[in-house]
Amino acid sequence: MFLITGVTGTTGSLVRQLLVDRGVPVRGMTRNPSRADDVFGDFADPESLSNALNGVTAAYLVTAPESPVPDHDLAFVAAARQAGVQRIVRLSAIGSGESFENEVLAPHHLAADEAVMDSGVEWTVLRPSMFATNMLRTPVFNMTGDAKHGVIDPADIAAVAVEALVGGHAGRVYELTGPVAMSVPEQAAVLGEVRGAAVEVVEVDPAVVDPAWRSGVMWARAGHGARVTDDVSRVLGRPAVGFEQWARGHALT
Ligand SMILES: NC(=O)c1ccc[n+]([C@@H]2O[C@H](COP(=O)([O-])OP(=O)(O)OC[C@H]3O[C@@H](n4cnc5c(N)ncnc54)[C@H](OP(=O)(O)O)[C@@H]3O)[C@@H](O)[C@H]2O)c1
Repeated sequence: MFLITGVTGTTGSLVRQLLVDRGVPVRGMTRNPSRADDVFGDFADPESLSNALNGVTAAYLVTAPESPVPDHDLAFVAAARQAGVQRIVRLSAIGSGESFENEVLAPHHLAADEAVMDSGVEWTVLRPSMFATNMLRTPVFNMTGDAKHGVIDPADIAAVAVEALVGGHAGRVYELTGPVAMSVPEQAAVLGEVRGAAVEVVEVDPAVVDPAWRSGVMWARAGHGARVTDDVSRVLGRPAVGFEQWARGHALT
């Protein structure tokens, strides 16, 4: 049995579908179960984690961006060890643990990644770049100006996660990007062209960004998020999906 946390979210929902398509028995963890294959689980409720992890061999670990502390991940890793889980695939973020202007980026992701790596459980860490799906927000708030990002289709993240969950990627940290680096205004222009309607982008002054996220924003503004890797194609054996291809599939959403 595979447990998918964040199963109602961007990548977890796609991971579930891909595993179901492969015929793998799956349990989705959510605070609001609505399907027969869902289980109640709240990262803040250790008993619910033990229950969700009962009989689980591999888990996809996604924690929410609203709380930039590692507590949820630490609780999950402890419960997974207790339950005898054999493999954890954790969704982290590009740049986590790098230093920029004397600050460590995304220290919560770094602490959580390290907890998974030190758990004694087989692990894979995924560090994706900006999700293409961020462009589906209305309006799009742009904190990174004209800086480019290796923007990635979350379906590619999910496909890599599934390969890692099935096995053969233990002890690997993958930096997952799309094939081309693009700025937020460039992404908006492409999506607007495909839709035939302009995408509203609101520029955000980095001075007003929440301090918890500011170093990451400044890192990206300095161009460090423009990296493009071949990790997606090396794991999947096909090229990563480009932004325009993704946009054509999401023109109506
Ligand atoms: N967006 C990007 O560009 C980007 C780039 C790189 C990395 N990331 C990373 O990707 C991760 C996911 O971000 P996202 O925006 O795509 O979120 P998401 O996966 O769409 O949503 C978060 C999920 O977390 C679950 N959740 C929230 N609080 C929970 C709790 N207390 N207990 C159990 N489950 C809880 C929610 O499930 P329920 O509400 O159903 O319980 C939901 O399924 C974050 O760590 C973020 O840093 C994002």
